[in-house]
Amino acid sequence: MKGLIISGGKGTRLRPITYTSAKQLVPVANRPVLFRVLDAMVEAGITDIGIVVGDTAPIIEAAVGDGSAWGAEVTYIRQEAPLGLAHAVKISEDYLTNDRFVMFLGDNVIEGGITSLVKQFAASDWNAQIVLKRVEDPRRFGVAELQDGRIVRLVEKPKDPPSDLALVGIYMFDHHIFEAVKAIKPSWRGELEITDAIQYLTEQGYQVYPYIHEGWWIDTGKMEDMLEANRLILETNESRMEGFVDADSKVNGRVVIEKDAEIINSTVRGPAIIGERTRVVNAYIGPYSSIYHDCLIADCEIEHSIIMEHCKITDIHHRIEDSLIGRNVEIVRSPAKPRAYKMVLGDHSKVGIL
Ligand code: DAU
Repeated sequence: MKGLIISGGKGTRLRPITYTSAKQLVPVANRPVLFRVLDAMVEAGITDIGIVVGDTAPIIEAAVGDGSAWGAEVTYIRQEAPLGLAHAVKISEDYLTNDRFVMFLGDNVIEGGITSLVKQFAASDWNAQIVLKRVEDPRRFGVAELQDGRIVRLVEKPKDPPSDLALVGIYMFDHHIFEAVKAIKPSWRGELEITDAIQYLTEQGYQVYPYIHEGWWIDTGKMEDMLEANRLILETNESRMEGFVDADSKVNGRVVIEKDAEIINSTVRGPAIIGERTRVVNAYIGPYSSIYHDCLIADCEIEHSIIMEHCKITDIHHRIEDSLIGRNVEIVRSPAKPRAYKMVLGDHSKVGIL
């Protein structure tokens, strides 16, 4: 089987982070979401992987390369504009040819990986298998209706959902999907919808089966979702100590300290992760914090936050919480007079001040 990861789109709900990077590259528990999708595919034995990319193609290609870091072979497929998930499949036909494939949205994180469902589909003669999850508010997703164990109807973001079974961003298809994506017309939002293509398969009598996922699943479109995915992954991390902790520091609970990180006269209370070469000095790092590599965190307190690489946060008197802080950000005390908040913030930045 081949893999197809959909990694284009604009990421407007994650601005300003997405002005300078792709949302799929935001790290959760110090590993970008897209890398986690690649991990899951390779773990399921899929190493021939296509990645559909849009405007952020250069950044994604620089981060993932040719896939050899995963032992995979990655082919990039350029989508000129985000014209829909079925459009992404349509432009991938030359790459996918007649192979069965698993398609995975590059901003989704799923508990437990995809090995068992890939095995089940590979061993079947089904034309498609769609991963579903029972959710509280199905109106935010594509929703499936089942009959006698098969999928019979799908609706995209329905006002009046026919069930509580949301489409997780993971789908498995054989080559009949190309007939479907060519037959459907754009929806009211101008996109070729993958839900319409799957609906077409069911109407033509092809076999479309569900896989109901029992673990957690997060679509990381918004900041709150990123923090939730970060929380859930940190909960499952085992403690690991590859850096240095001095005798005046305390490390409690499930904490990962990556290579060449230093904890000096500080408390780190897990679940938390401190990235490579990051220095934590006279500081408190509380539960559900991920500090990425090459940061300096000194004389401050941070909890329930994602801090991306090369940040400097020093001498801050109130605790920083519930925050997503981008690359190379500095939050420092400014002693120079006049005494005032002095900021350089990009468009759509958000600052909460006490
Ligand atoms: O997350 C699950 C949901 O994903 C499903 O329940 C829905 O049925 C499915 O349509 C999709 O809904 P979203 O509204 O979340 O899709 P979104 O437009 O956000 O696209 C998902 C990802 O795919 C996003 O990271 C951007 C990327 N994308 C999207 C489109 C439409 C592309 O790369 N190209 C595209 O043309």
